[in-house]
Amino acid sequence: PFAAYEMAPLDPIIGLNEEFQRDDFPQKVIVGVGAYRDDAGKPYVLPCVREAEQRLVDQKLDMEYSGIAGDQKFVDLSLKFGYGEDSGALKEGRIQGVQALSGTGGLRVFGEMIRRHGHKHIYVPNPTWGNHIPIFQNSGLEVRKYRYYDASNSSLDFDGMIKDIQDIPAGSCVLLHACAHNPTGMDPTLEQWKQLSELFKKKQLFPFFDAAYQGFASGDAILDAASLRMFVDDGHLLGTIQSFSKNFGLYGHRVGTLSVVGSNAEEAARVVSQMKMVIRPMYSNPPRHGARIVSTILDDPKLKSDFYEQCKGMADRMNTMRTKLRDELEAVGSTRNWDHIVKQIGMFAYSGLNKEQVMEMRSKHHLYCTADGRISMAGVTTGNVSYIANAMHDVSK
Ligand code: LMR
Repeated sequence: PFAAYEMAPLDPIIGLNEEFQRDDFPQKVIVGVGAYRDDAGKPYVLPCVREAEQRLVDQKLDMEYSGIAGDQKFVDLSLKFGYGEDSGALKEGRIQGVQALSGTGGLRVFGEMIRRHGHKHIYVPNPTWGNHIPIFQNSGLEVRKYRYYDASNSSLDFDGMIKDIQDIPAGSCVLLHACAHNPTGMDPTLEQWKQLSELFKKKQLFPFFDAAYQGFASGDAILDAASLRMFVDDGHLLGTIQSFSKNFGLYGHRVGTLSVVGSNAEEAARVVSQMKMVIRPMYSNPPRHGARIVSTILDDPKLKSDFYEQCKGMADRMNTMRTKLRDELEAVGSTRNWDHIVKQIGMFAYSGLNKEQVMEMRSKHHLYCTADGRISMAGVTTGNVSYIANAMHDVSK
């Protein structure tokens, strides 16, 4: 039955790991997938996560199925983390959600659900995280793009963004990156978010926030939720997917929360019931352990403050590396302007290198980043920053 199957291409982000594994050059470097590394280049488990795990082991919990919507305590705590402890809408019961299989899983459930409820399109920024496009296409939606980035100036194209959003038909769902836009590292300012909020109101658009990097933009997880909280305060009805992969470093545990803000509690409950209708035949119910880790941390004042500090530590290290990388590029003699590397925020530097240059770095320097020139700052360390700068300069001089 499989004779006609063709070999599929490698994934543009995750597939890089496979290519990297096959390279036996000793100084090879990978700055592809957005996964945090410590300054020795090793995966990092937050100490608060280790402590929460120990507490969980000590409790000898059972391993029964979760409900279709997952762990309610985890969902409640993650909604407070995203929307704010004092959120009026949360207190009114208008914000409800389900545990999701991290960002990807929640996006897929959301896409499928809105498609079942009459949506034919979803609008995403250009560029956006590569996986957004197939996720929504697989949900049966046509993906349309609005302008977001001005490559010639390495900056946000806010005017283009506003112009394109103005033309989106009323009622359409529009995806926004809550903070630390992937791949560009460029976010609207708070004033610009305000303008967007007003425009969404005027045009009756349906905002959907992808919050994958809360804590990684400013280093302060509360500040990073400002765009989402502003939209809720402005009275929007919206959807949000929160991922706990990056900020809590729980990548492989697949922890996320998909939620909506409805006009009242009863409406929000109806939407959650529809999410469950998508989930049950797709994967039945989500895994328990990662959600238990997050709820143990968010439910304990000491672990929670440890988390804020440790998350900030990751963001700070990446920012230090941004400056280092720019300085090293100057030191090796590059005359190009690399200031955008320092201006960008979050996990990625959108270098401006083109596909050819990326491929040359790969073949000549054994340096692996995604084809769009995105460099995961999480993989840049004191030990490899000069090597990376050299390679970038060599292919761009
Ligand atoms: C990334 O963009 O590198 C991350 O969001 C990880 C992924 O799954 O692609």
